[in-house]
Amino acid sequence: SIYNVGILVGSLRKNSFNKKIAEYIVDQEESKFRYSLIDIGDLPLYNQDFDDEGTPPASYTRFRQEINALDAVLFITAEYNRSVPAVLKNAIDVGSRPYGKNSWDGKPAAVISSSIGALGGFGANHHLRQSLVFVNLLTMQQPEAYIGDIESSIGSDGKIESGETKDFLHSFKQAFEQWAEQFITNKGQD
Ligand code: FNR
Repeated sequence: SIYNVGILVGSLRKNSFNKKIAEYIVDQEESKFRYSLIDIGDLPLYNQDFDDEGTPPASYTRFRQEINALDAVLFITAEYNRSVPAVLKNAIDVGSRPYGKNSWDGKPAAVISSSIGALGGFGANHHLRQSLVFVNLLTMQQPEAYIGDIESSIGSDGKIESGETKDFLHSFKQAFEQWAEQFITNKGQD
């Protein structure tokens, strides 16, 4: 069977370094884990009235269906002012509602943060984990991934070029797949 992993990127920037990390992971040879990017840029800021009045935006419905269909979730995020970019926090909030229909519930997850700075988005990484605890995503604790000075890992073609960064991403991906597989309940289905 194939396991579907959704990647949520915490940056909307066209040339986002975090998105380049995500694209690198998507481009790796397929194992039984298939990675795809989930769009979060079209989700209006969460307003509970949409759900209370039974008129959620089409993008909410699309997003919730996409999350429901995933076997696992990988967050790859920038750090804004030592915390989670609002666009990613908003996506987590949208996916957690309406009340009683938390799309994240019980799925395995992992977090990668990266920054042009030296600290590698540590603040965003850990603030994000606080929300993931509450929505009951089963987030891998080790290895952690704080990728600093990310700009220097990118080649002139706009892709990840640094061998060290590639090696790290490979080992992280392998650990994540082992972690995730423990919790995926549809094992053995085709
Ligand atoms: C930043 N940046 C940043 N970097 C960091 O290491 N810690 C921080 O707290 C912040 N804060 C911050 C706030 C805002 C509003 C912006 C726009 C940027 C810099 C950030 O690391 C840099 O812009 C990255 O390039 C963002 O990631 P993407 O967009 O390349 O994925």
